[in-house]
Amino acid sequence: MSRLPRAQEYLKTGFTAEAAAAARCRAYAQAAERAGRPNLAAAWRELAAEKDGLAIAQLEAAGKVWGDGEAIAAALAEERFENHSLYPRMVREVDAETAAVFGQVIAAQEVHAERLAALAERLRAATADLPA
Ligand SMILES: [Fe+2]
Repeated sequence: MSRLPRAQEYLKTGFTAEAAAAARCRAYAQAAERAGRPNLAAAWRELAAEKDGLAIAQLEAAGKVWGDGEAIAAALAEERFENHSLYPRMVREVDAETAAVFGQVIAAQEVHAERLAALAERLRAATADLPA
């Protein structure tokens, strides 16, 4: 579906807002869990799942849910940009404590990039779904 640039921009804004809200809800769920409040944690997780749904609906409306090859290539490109450009630039401009957080993110994302590359290989070898 083709949409006006303004609509695409707003769908992206909405997607980003709902995806971030979902992550915040999960953080609150984790905090509640750690505080020994599992029912509150469950309520936050339920909201997070609904926020995920809203984010996905907007991504779909924008026509940005790609096929396997494009999705993996886009995810890899995103990880590489973040790890080789975005985070290193930010690391240089922040205090040591914040830089350490970004360092952990970069390390985790290196692993994610390796997993994405491995997934691409597995998908190339697969006929339909990935083997279990
Ligand atoms: Fe990332």
